[in-house]
Amino acid sequence: MNEIAVRVAKKTREAQDINAYELVAVDGESLPAFDAGSHIDVFLPNGLVRQYSLCGGPPQQGRYRIAVLRDPKTRGGSQAVHDMVHEGDTLRISMPRNLFALSDGMHASVLLAGGIGVTPLLAMAYHLHARGRPFELHYFARSRERVAFLSELLTGAFADQVVLHLDDESPAGSQPVRELVASLQASRPDAHVYSCGPAGFLQHVSDTLAAVSWPAGQTHSETFTASEPVTGDSFELRIASTGETVVVGPNETVVAAAARLGFDIPVSCEQGICGTCVTRVLEGVPDHHDQYFSDAEHAANDQFTPCCSRAKSRLLVLDL
Ligand code: FES
Repeated sequence: MNEIAVRVAKKTREAQDINAYELVAVDGESLPAFDAGSHIDVFLPNGLVRQYSLCGGPPQQGRYRIAVLRDPKTRGGSQAVHDMVHEGDTLRISMPRNLFALSDGMHASVLLAGGIGVTPLLAMAYHLHARGRPFELHYFARSRERVAFLSELLTGAFADQVVLHLDDESPAGSQPVRELVASLQASRPDAHVYSCGPAGFLQHVSDTLAAVSWPAGQTHSETFTASEPVTGDSFELRIASTGETVVVGPNETVVAAAARLGFDIPVSCEQGICGTCVTRVLEGVPDHHDQYFSDAEHAANDQFTPCCSRAKSRLLVLDL
């Protein structure tokens, strides 16, 4: 994996529990260009590796900007960033990768941000604005204090295309996602909808779009929070090179089971996003729980993400 050494040039408080970090290359060169929707792996001082979307616009040319919500419910990555990463520090990051790319064309793009999920959508908004493509950015948050990049959004170049939906300023019983989707259906049925946020928010958006049969090809989403660990029935795992087998318990991952046989599968996100752990499957049918592979790649069943995916068959033989 190509890694880049960066320095934290700027750390700013962007909203309640949200900090933004501007990263520059330690060698003074511009950082590689990235497509809107991209994310990077950040190698944290405590050994964790976490993925953060790049959310910079033209003012951050040649730099990367990420924003991080301190979330005590997660596995320690966000707290490490808030507590251990300071201006002037150096970090290692990966090259940008994009699993949430914008679709080409002059159709309308409707960007739905749930909380800190605004980060990739902000980069998309800058991209769409620069190309004169029609779009709206809808930001859903509990209160104004929790809206990251508030003044940038409300006074910036595309301020008139930003709509805030704040729980504490909305009339009781309002259903903003439902109303928005109904209006899209009536006025812009060719629009592409991009959503990013916590799993519950994405589910709500997905259910609302499904209720009006919104075309799957015009729906794009990315989550960022660790989902609940995937559990399921036990199954047998065989290592092809040695023939050794081990039972993967209902609450353990394939990575953990393989480690008991001395096979350390490299991991990063541990939630099926980054692809670091991808392993070839020689026999058996994986039960895919990742967001890394396409539907066609899932259907091929010849590789899987052992950090979170399991088996539909009683035996899985891995090319290890
Ligand atoms: S570690 Fe990221 S997909 Fe498995």
